[in-house]
Amino acid sequence: FPSLKAAYPGLRMGTTLNLDEVYGRDLRGGEIIRHHFSAISPENLLKWESAQPQPGRFAFEAADRYVELGERNGQFIVGHALVWHSQTPAWVFQNADGSPASRDTLLARMRNHIHTVVGRYRGRIGGWDVVNEALDEDGTLRRSPWLNIIGPDFIAQAFRFANEADPQAELYYNDYSLENPAKRAGAVRLIRDLQRQGVRVTAVGLQGHHKMDWPTIAAEDSTITAFADLGVKVAITELDIDVLPRVVPGNTAEISARGEAAGCNCESNPYVLGMPDSVQQALAQRYAQFFDLYRRRSDVVKRVTFWGVSDDDSWLNDWPLRGRTNHPLLFGWRGEPKAAFFAVLRAASPG
Ligand code: G3I
Repeated sequence: FPSLKAAYPGLRMGTTLNLDEVYGRDLRGGEIIRHHFSAISPENLLKWESAQPQPGRFAFEAADRYVELGERNGQFIVGHALVWHSQTPAWVFQNADGSPASRDTLLARMRNHIHTVVGRYRGRIGGWDVVNEALDEDGTLRRSPWLNIIGPDFIAQAFRFANEADPQAELYYNDYSLENPAKRAGAVRLIRDLQRQGVRVTAVGLQGHHKMDWPTIAAEDSTITAFADLGVKVAITELDIDVLPRVVPGNTAEISARGEAAGCNCESNPYVLGMPDSVQQALAQRYAQFFDLYRRRSDVVKRVTFWGVSDDDSWLNDWPLRGRTNHPLLFGWRGEPKAAFFAVLRAASPG
């Protein structure tokens, strides 16, 4: 098959790697990664809980493999994520006796973590998600131990530390649902505020966890414009399109329990036996629309990274309910290129 990266020379075409792919235990995935992608992101292995599980004890084995693999493949290597409220061990925010750490202690830990991790791969990891998901849906800062203990300047501090550790690396603010006007406005305020303080930010990462009916292409386009107007680039960092019906919030535990008892979440898992042709086609069309946009905006959108190589890899099989059968990517459960794959190739050269 023609390769995605060759079809979109103006974009870095990326995918995220899990441990099986990093350690070469997934040959099929490895082949897809080499052939189609010019950029890689680490799904979990560079998060704080993986990179520094215990105070001062760093664990770089998987990350070293990941970076070596990217170098062998000649790919642009992304780091994810330095400062996040999730997948960060509790000890980071506590003293030895369990009481909350002070601002100075937490800042020192943040600085040490960023300097150690970014410094180790200086000149090799080309860009970092420095701060991940710091905003709430209404555009205010998310309440998290980072905010509670350090205060709002934890974001600027993280970017300063990352810049010290690798002045050449691209530095990203990464978040989801920035297509929602209130959240997008919050991100625009945040970036402007960082720029006013002279903090270096290269790009905003729009995670791109899309649904079939959200966001609209127009909303995606105006979100790209909102950040382009600030003079930063945009990367689509975690692209997938959820094809399953929404689960009503508050109902998830009950549906999960019922599903597990029945051996499957049948009600909320309609495509367990495969995706009907109509849904294949609808997904293909939706992907084509997004890639048509990303290609047209490639003066601003510099990278598009899928969150998973093939459908069997996707986190969406476990969210918001465990064990659903989702089909959100370009390659299917057996690694086969789907209609969406061919639609993305076609969208590269319209007309
Ligand atoms: O590795 C353990 C395994 O040993 C254990 O048996 C199993 C049982 O649950 O869990 C495994 O760990 C899981 C891990 O993924 C590796 O598969 C964790 O439970 C699970 O929580 C973790 O989920 C990750 C999630 O971030 C955590 O928040 C997903 O893989 C990963 O795709 C997802 O990625 C995030 C981005 O980092 C940030 N943006 C949103 C995106 C999707 O949630």
